[in-house]
Amino acid sequence: MTEDVFQSPKKRGRIAIFLSGRGSNFIAIHKAIEAGEINADIALVFSNKKQAPGFLFAQEQGLETLYLRPKSFPDRESYDQEIAREIQARDIDLIVLAGYMRIITAPFCQQFLNRIINIHPALLPSFPGLHVQQQAMDWGVRFSGATVHFVVPEVDMGPIILQAVVPVLQDDTEETLSSRILKEEHNLYPAAVKLYFEGRLEIRGRRVFLLD
Ligand code: GRF
Repeated sequence: MTEDVFQSPKKRGRIAIFLSGRGSNFIAIHKAIEAGEINADIALVFSNKKQAPGFLFAQEQGLETLYLRPKSFPDRESYDQEIAREIQARDIDLIVLAGYMRIITAPFCQQFLNRIINIHPALLPSFPGLHVQQQAMDWGVRFSGATVHFVVPEVDMGPIILQAVVPVLQDDTEETLSSRILKEEHNLYPAAVKLYFEGRLEIRGRRVFLLD
């Protein structure tokens, strides 16, 4: 049986950031781009929340932004179809989910296969879903962390690009553990985007190889 192999493109990439909230990961990527560390431009910041702090920051920065009101669409499929049209019109190479709080429909995932990445505040495949820092503490794990992965229709289950590990301390609260993880996220996510446009990510099956 032959295995499908995908290699990320080596080029100056056009990124679309999708976010719904604070946007600290978006800001970390934006800073890395401004510092010349990533060979890409943010061509679009998309949000399903007009007042999301990250979205307002993007507007302040003069980046191209797009808000689509979910309630104006009959269902999730038609919402995602409209986003797909906007993405294609802008020739986007990579969609970077940065605290985007909507589940992406399967057809959208298929259409942009290997071109959507996400960051998750746990060591996947442990603790997918929401409120995962609290879940990790409740379970009693000694370590948690962050995972950057490709997006597939099954939520939080795509091929893993990078992970960072942090200890879970006995006196942690959800807030302290979250902020320890978030600090790692801000290094990990720009590093993953950088590797992507260096043409150094190769997906074979469900494994991602980091090329030299
Ligand atoms: C982060 O914890 C990220 O791992 C998760 O959503 C949160 C987004 O935070 N997917 P921010 O909006 O980037 O500050």
